[in-house]
Amino acid sequence: MKHEFPQDFWWGAATSGPQSEGRFNKKHRSVFDYWYDIEPEAFFDRVGPNVASNFYNSFREDLKMMKSIGFNSFRTSIQWTRLIKDFETAEVEADAVRFYNEMIDECIANGMIPVINLHHFDLPIELYEKYGGWESKHVVELFAKYSRVCFDLFGDRVKHWTTFNEPIVIVQGEYINQFHYPNLIDGKKAVQVSYNLNLASAKSIEQFRLSENSKDGKIGIVLNLTPAYPRSNSKEDLAASDFANKFHNRMFLDPAVLGYFPEGLAEIFIKDGVMWQYTEEELELIKNNTIDFLGVNFYQPLRVKAVEHEFDESKNGWLPDKYYEYYEMPGRRVNPHKNWEIYPEAMYDIAINIRDNYKNIPWYVSENGMGVYGEEKFKDENGMILDDYRIEFVTEHLEFLHKGIQEGSNCFGYHLWTPIDCWSWMNAYRNRYGFISLDLATQIKTIKKSGYWFKAVSENNGF
Ligand code: BG6
Repeated sequence: MKHEFPQDFWWGAATSGPQSEGRFNKKHRSVFDYWYDIEPEAFFDRVGPNVASNFYNSFREDLKMMKSIGFNSFRTSIQWTRLIKDFETAEVEADAVRFYNEMIDECIANGMIPVINLHHFDLPIELYEKYGGWESKHVVELFAKYSRVCFDLFGDRVKHWTTFNEPIVIVQGEYINQFHYPNLIDGKKAVQVSYNLNLASAKSIEQFRLSENSKDGKIGIVLNLTPAYPRSNSKEDLAASDFANKFHNRMFLDPAVLGYFPEGLAEIFIKDGVMWQYTEEELELIKNNTIDFLGVNFYQPLRVKAVEHEFDESKNGWLPDKYYEYYEMPGRRVNPHKNWEIYPEAMYDIAINIRDNYKNIPWYVSENGMGVYGEEKFKDENGMILDDYRIEFVTEHLEFLHKGIQEGSNCFGYHLWTPIDCWSWMNAYRNRYGFISLDLATQIKTIKKSGYWFKAVSENNGF
């Protein structure tokens, strides 16, 4: 075989609670449930998270289907708004405990390792309205409490936890680029929220280590690493990429793995008058509660250049865009459905960066994938979607990942986004990502060509 992967390599895919379960029996609303309720037209085809892919009701059949295409592991998330009845005391909802217990047990019964994430963009709306959500350190405390409940309830069987999915996307979506409720533009708050999310992750890890159930378990975080490639090697472009890397990647990666923020970042925030509020005790806590493993989501690189138009602070106040501009590289390959660059080589660069600069920490690809609009047109006469483009996309990314592993990077798995087409934030069901397609009208699920292909890759532990 040309590309053989390490023993016990994870083959699987990832989804999240809010994107797959549906809102059945859920007592509280997340910021996305709320946003959909007040402004359904903000979502593609006005489709919201109410039914999603019906995982709450069909998890047994869904997990069996995943097993049938070779998964040995599967990630989803617990919804804070489902599990918890009272956010202050972390008292739980009995039906949610039943659901998550049954789902986890079913996953294990199918021979799949459950990887459970605690937060996937789904902040309870009450906590935003009462406290300003992640702007508040009280919410950080409540998150730690909720995490502890999860570890105590499910940690006897769940041995792989992650605290957050893509925390930088919360910062961008809620406070910079307006794609998560409350859709603000506020750079100073964005900086505080970035710090608070790091603190929340560390406090959750602290609770994990205190839980009886943590002895043979591991905890990590899922970060979307988007290497910031400079347009050129000019001093100005390199400075732009250095800042973009620090803001988009290292602001979460460094504290998670190394225990401290990247050098020079706080200095910029202080100089610009947007520095986060912190205490020495909190920094100590972050230092002492680093992760055991890292999940890396990779879709596209970030290409940047030095600012060409002077940044106008009078418009929206301070923003990270003060230090770099996006660069559309001529000749880049693009997924036309998302306008995202396809650059599998970055998989190798990420692998080597983790090997050389992040203690060669164990890591896995927690999401990678290709969103396609209108996949139904590729159906054959039996209703199977012939998604050769997805097979090609995954193959290319695995090739570069394999090269990184050959050169010593400690990667232990690959998960696609996503097992079964699932709901997405504003895009709803516009872009389909799964190995398994979903007919929204009937909820019928059908394995795509890529699903059968993946089964063979998993069985051969390579290709
Ligand atoms: C990832 C997120 O970054 O992108 C997922 O972790 C999300 O939650 C996925 O669904 C795809 O996004 P979209 O908007 O193309 O459906």
